[in-house]
Amino acid sequence: MALLSVNVDHIATIREARGIDEPDPVLAAGIAELAGAEGIICHLREDKRHIKDRDLELLKKMVKTKLNLEMSPVKNLIDTALTIKPDLVTLVPEKREEVTTESGLDVVDNKEEYKRVTGALKEAGISVSFFIDPDPNQIKESLDAGADIIEIHTGYYCEAVLESEILREFEKIKEAAKLGVELNLKVHAGHGLNYVNIKRFSSIPEIKEYSIGHSIIARAVMVGLDQAIREMIKLVSQF
Ligand code: PXP
Repeated sequence: MALLSVNVDHIATIREARGIDEPDPVLAAGIAELAGAEGIICHLREDKRHIKDRDLELLKKMVKTKLNLEMSPVKNLIDTALTIKPDLVTLVPEKREEVTTESGLDVVDNKEEYKRVTGALKEAGISVSFFIDPDPNQIKESLDAGADIIEIHTGYYCEAVLESEILREFEKIKEAAKLGVELNLKVHAGHGLNYVNIKRFSSIPEIKEYSIGHSIIARAVMVGLDQAIREMIKLVSQF
């Protein structure tokens, strides 16, 4: 049975479109937990364009399940993580101009840096997840760099259009999940998943948790946040 963590950045994005104090991602996190989410995710970007320090501080105080802080491994954000001490940090690459995270970490080329950052976080009692492409080399190097969890980037699969391309990308995720488990890593997945394209994942029991944001908030606009989260939990709990 797979679990669901809900990304509340998209609530902050709506707030920032108006530049006022609502809707509040912290309130959304409470609703997500009441609806049965296993964890709350927020991405503190270097430019803090949606989630702010205030959100992170309040989320740390009120999240009862698990707070997963996504961030790029840069010094000032690492310092923030070491001060706030979320349950989990997910390291992601970040490009300032991107609308959302575009690719996984390049652990192969930056292993020593990620190893150092991971060591510091783990020493402070924070678990560390690496957001990586479904690539065997990245998975092996993640283990070597000390990751507890790999979050497999599902965006290429979600964006694929031709059936052959969809199947090819899905196979990569399936193989990556199997390798992760063989290496004793916990395997999560996320990015671009919605109520339709997630159904195929019932054939990958190795993935124990899904990180989902946009599609849940999009559905919540129509049916309410509680119902949108319950519907997604119902799907992933069958895997
Ligand atoms: N996982 C990671 C590492 C992400 O950066 C994001 C996007 O913030 C997600 C999961 C959730 O993606 P989506 O909003 O497309 O569901």
